[in-house]
Amino acid sequence: MTTLENPQLNQPSSIYVPEPAEIIKMAKLTEMEMHYELRLADGRPLGQDPGQFVQVSLLGVGECPISLCSSPTRPETFELCIRRVGKVTECLHRLSEGDTIGIRGPLGHGFDVNEMHGKDILIVAGGLGIAPARSLIQYILDERERFGRFFLLYGGRTPQELLFKDDVVRWRENPDVDFHVTVDQPDSGWRGKSGVVTTLFRELPKLDPNETLAVIIGPPIMFKFVVLEILSRRIPQTSIYCSLERQMKCGVGKCGHCQVNNIYVCQEGPVFKYAQLKALRESVE
Ligand SMILES: Cc1cc2nc3c(=O)[nH]c(=O)nc-3n(C[C@H](O)[C@H](O)[C@H](O)COP(=O)(O)OP(=O)(O)OC[C@H]3O[C@@H](n4cnc5c(N)ncnc54)[C@H](O)[C@@H]3O)c2cc1C
Ligand code: FES
Repeated sequence: MTTLENPQLNQPSSIYVPEPAEIIKMAKLTEMEMHYELRLADGRPLGQDPGQFVQVSLLGVGECPISLCSSPTRPETFELCIRRVGKVTECLHRLSEGDTIGIRGPLGHGFDVNEMHGKDILIVAGGLGIAPARSLIQYILDERERFGRFFLLYGGRTPQELLFKDDVVRWRENPDVDFHVTVDQPDSGWRGKSGVVTTLFRELPKLDPNETLAVIIGPPIMFKFVVLEILSRRIPQTSIYCSLERQMKCGVGKCGHCQVNNIYVCQEGPVFKYAQLKALRESVE
């Protein structure tokens, strides 16, 4: 029986079968990163949670995990930000608007937004970490009345490497978010703050440790120092979320590629509470 004869085989229900998605818009963010807006071929919303990822595939080339960088509150399309680093991502950068790619997902565990409702939220994002953070940022801004105070700290290496520069301008002007941005290596044209992302903590007002949930997304080196800043404000380890990137293959708990100790990051993560991560020390060192 062919797929057409058996409507069940047409269901986009299998976590193993990529679904076609059309590239609606493509925009170069930096020399290395491209921003994609996509729509599933059947028009259905992707239905992601902030913090989840998809496996992106190109027939005959391969597959790679990429975080969703848009919120489910904007369901018409979904967005990805892809850094060109190797085989699959190089080929993805060479595509054009109107082309079709394969998508499996949304996969993994994202942020528990229900737990976040009513709380003050502090997001600290570094480098490419602003991509998964953006999904949560958009969610909070779209559902603003459900959250308390909202603080966002973003650090990049250089002004050229800052991602989503249009959003950066909007966040700066938006009274709904207390936003601060810094770069490690400013150039002559940079008028903003310079220094590593932890230097932005001095811009924050007093945080209420019992009412604040903190989110850290960025390279492993950033984790250690940001965690220390957050803990020094007496925010409990169970109130700190971290998003962890591990090498993945299947994305659905079958191959063991992403395993840290007894945990499959692709299934139980990529978002973890810091208290859990501490037990998985290998992953943050
Ligand atoms: C949960 C998750 C979310 C991610 N989100 C994003 C995102 O939003 N945007 C983005 O640009 N990248 C993201 N990545 C990283 C992305 O998956 C890799 O850059 C991609 O797999 C590289 O594939 P490639 O074939 O182009 O490179 P390859 O030719 O396979 O390798 C090139 C380089 O990338 C590294 N790499 C290869 N595979 C992976 C992998 N599966 N995970 C991490 N590093 C890898 C290699 O060590 C090597 O240094 C994410 C990874 C994970 C696990
Ligand atoms: S990537 Fe295969 S088990 Fe996680």
